[in-house]
Amino acid sequence: MEENKNKPTQVEDTGHEWDGIRELDNPPPRWWLNALYLSGLIVVVYFVLYPSLPLVDDSTKGLLGWTQISEYKEDLAKVEAKRAPFDDKLATMSFNEILKDQEMLNYAIGSSKVLYGDNCAACHGVGGAPAKGAGYPVLTDDDWLYGGTVEDIQVSIAKGRQGYMPAHEKLLKTEEVDQLVKFAIDSSNGVMNKAGMALFNAKGCVACHGADAKGIKAMGSANLTDKIWRFSGDEDQVRLTILHGVNDATDKLTRVAVMPQWSEKLSIMLQARAYAIADGEDPNDIDWSDELDGSESERLSETDIKKLTIYVHQFGGGE
Ligand code: HEC
Ligand code: HEC
Repeated sequence: MEENKNKPTQVEDTGHEWDGIRELDNPPPRWWLNALYLSGLIVVVYFVLYPSLPLVDDSTKGLLGWTQISEYKEDLAKVEAKRAPFDDKLATMSFNEILKDQEMLNYAIGSSKVLYGDNCAACHGVGGAPAKGAGYPVLTDDDWLYGGTVEDIQVSIAKGRQGYMPAHEKLLKTEEVDQLVKFAIDSSNGVMNKAGMALFNAKGCVACHGADAKGIKAMGSANLTDKIWRFSGDEDQVRLTILHGVNDATDKLTRVAVMPQWSEKLSIMLQARAYAIADGEDPNDIDWSDELDGSESERLSETDIKKLTIYVHQFGGGE
């Protein structure tokens, strides 16, 4: 501040003057100049140490070799190192063991959230509740097309699912369709419609939906007797299902309902184990080189599918 105390007459002026007011030519304060030089210096140091000048499809590297990507990769490696022991342990545990082990259960559920968000939520909605009318099954209720045990859910994820119901437009008369629509709606309201039931049997619906119309899990055929609709309980929507079927490629208006396959490899392994057990053999004796040739696709690892199975199972509907 010392310099500024100069009397105006002692300071040089710029030669400009308006109405007797002279424009003085005071030097800027020292502290201000120093700060300016320092910031210039910082720019140079930063320029030398860090990536700065953009080039055509890269940039100058900087002496420190720092990049955002390498920083991200280091962080990721740290997270993965922390998770690895849990993942290794999870891989060796059965579903029953995991369900009984609170720590591993928490880990499986916690680490599934991102997996689920990345791979499943687009169709099944956040937390297993898809948008209404989107045509995807709700995972939070107690109603499972293909079964709600951990084993069933694991197969659903590994193998993928695709229910099939033929279009009946050409097979039924209009009155018959009307009667079956009424039958399905009555059944869902707990009303036994005898004429409809007779038609249900006569027209072969029984073969897929079962004698009690409760659906058959091996086929994923919906339960027609509960209040939960796979698609919709509106009369025209029920009619649409009966007329055009589900995943019937011969009908343009058919409902499309495809759950993608997440691991062909795991799906084959689960199938082979199930056959071995059904034949009274030890699944540990399976010679995998007979079953797998290494070309099987895996969009998610076996452990990731295990985690997701536990996660979906605990949505509330787990049997
Ligand atoms: C492209 C959409 C889509 C994606 C992505 C998807 N699903 Fe599905 N999922 C479906 C459809 C459609 C069905 C029902 C298939 C049917 O009707 O036959 C289904 C069925 C299921 C079922 C069986 C439900 C039951 O009632 O038995 C489970 C479990 C499931 N999905 C879990 C998952 C998980 C976990 C993921 C993520 C890894 C996932 N899905 C990703 C569309 C999808
Ligand atoms: C070849 C097996 C098959 C036959 C035959 C069949 N269905 Fe289906 N049906 C299914 C399957 C599988 C689904 C569930 C599709 C899905 O979710 O992917 C279904 C779904 C439905 C639905 C939808 C239920 C809901 O909750 O939204 C109705 C209604 C229905 N069927 C009625 C009938 C009637 C009536 C007949 C006889 C005219 C019939 N089905 C014959 C397999 C069959």
